[in-house]
Amino acid sequence: MFFKRFPFTLVTLITLTTFIVSSIANGPCVRQLTQPFDHSEEPTWDDRIKLLYFVDIHAGRIYSYDPVTTILNHIQLDGDVTPIIPTVYDTHVFVAGLNRSLVALRWYPKGSRLEAVGTLTTVAKQFPTSQFNDGKADAKGRLWIGTMGYENSIGVVPNQGSLYLITKENIENPEVVIAPVNISNGLAWNKANTKFFYIDTPTRQVRVYDFDLKAGKISNPKVVFDVSEHDELTGNPDGMTIDEDDNIWVALYGGGAVVKVDTKTLKVLQIIAIPALDVTSVSWGGEKLDILFVTSSRFALSPEERRQQPAAGSLFAVYNLGARGLPAHYADVIDDVKLPCLR
Ligand SMILES: *[C@@H]1O[C@H](CO)[C@@H](O)[C@H](O)[C@H]1NC(C)=O
Ligand SMILES: *[C@@H]1O[C@H](CO)[C@@H](O)[C@H](O)[C@H]1NC(C)=O
Repeated sequence: MFFKRFPFTLVTLITLTTFIVSSIANGPCVRQLTQPFDHSEEPTWDDRIKLLYFVDIHAGRIYSYDPVTTILNHIQLDGDVTPIIPTVYDTHVFVAGLNRSLVALRWYPKGSRLEAVGTLTTVAKQFPTSQFNDGKADAKGRLWIGTMGYENSIGVVPNQGSLYLITKENIENPEVVIAPVNISNGLAWNKANTKFFYIDTPTRQVRVYDFDLKAGKISNPKVVFDVSEHDELTGNPDGMTIDEDDNIWVALYGGGAVVKVDTKTLKVLQIIAIPALDVTSVSWGGEKLDILFVTSSRFALSPEERRQQPAAGSLFAVYNLGARGLPAHYADVIDDVKLPCLR
């Protein structure tokens, strides 16, 4: 009797234990996915081929990461590189910011060979040491992409940034939408495409604009979140994403956390601690778009801080958040006639 019952009892016990453990462990679970980089940034998920991209800005590298196989590939460019944005044209044609130029590149992201690269446009000629920073495509494939002044480990040259709108039509001479800014950073749109969220990092604020998708216009800025009003938070807002319920998820550079904010009640809903002081950006990804990928930096850390934060600079994933994103949009700014330069 005992021998007959034993396996059943054991299985029941294991099942019960697993259930209890998983219930207890039901909060957010943060995992370090890679070794540290100098300054990982701009994670973006291509839902068509289930790959994550991100950059290591000053190293000039663009990475692809496959969360299923954990394979990491990269290509090398000559300069500071950010952002990386997949295009509607093909899953192996991208646009990227390289210094203050927008380049098109061809890369089969399951390998490490840069097939071709060509400059599409260069902005901010009056600020030769400024460079591109965060950028994203909107639902019509237009590019909203910002710049910032020259950055070293001490700080950033002020008032040399702008937010640009780049379309197929204006690519030779992109439109300046917001200027001046100091560090043009996180961007997001609500689900209905009627609101645009934007971060100029040193303001410590996230602003919301009315967004006209058809015309590609923003207006009427208002503050939706201000880190300075929250004693429980430190650092400055950097990259940002949004979930399907229109809550924004903001990386806190110098704050060691990602903060979830309800954009209707303006309340902080959740603070997720990341084992790196300088958290740079966030992107939803994974099969169900319910994993939050988080990039971080060790660029500005002292040798002592680097010892204390051995994971700083890594790519992280946060699971069990009970939230999910929508697929990112792909850029539609390259004219077919410009593509021959890629071959
Ligand atoms: C980007 O800027 C760096 C530093 O000035 C320079 O070495 C590099 O050649 C530039 N890259 C391109 C593609 O112009
Ligand atoms: C940029 O930073 C400088 C120096 O802190 C400040 O005086 C200026 O007002 C900021 N510019 C903007 C557009 O916020």
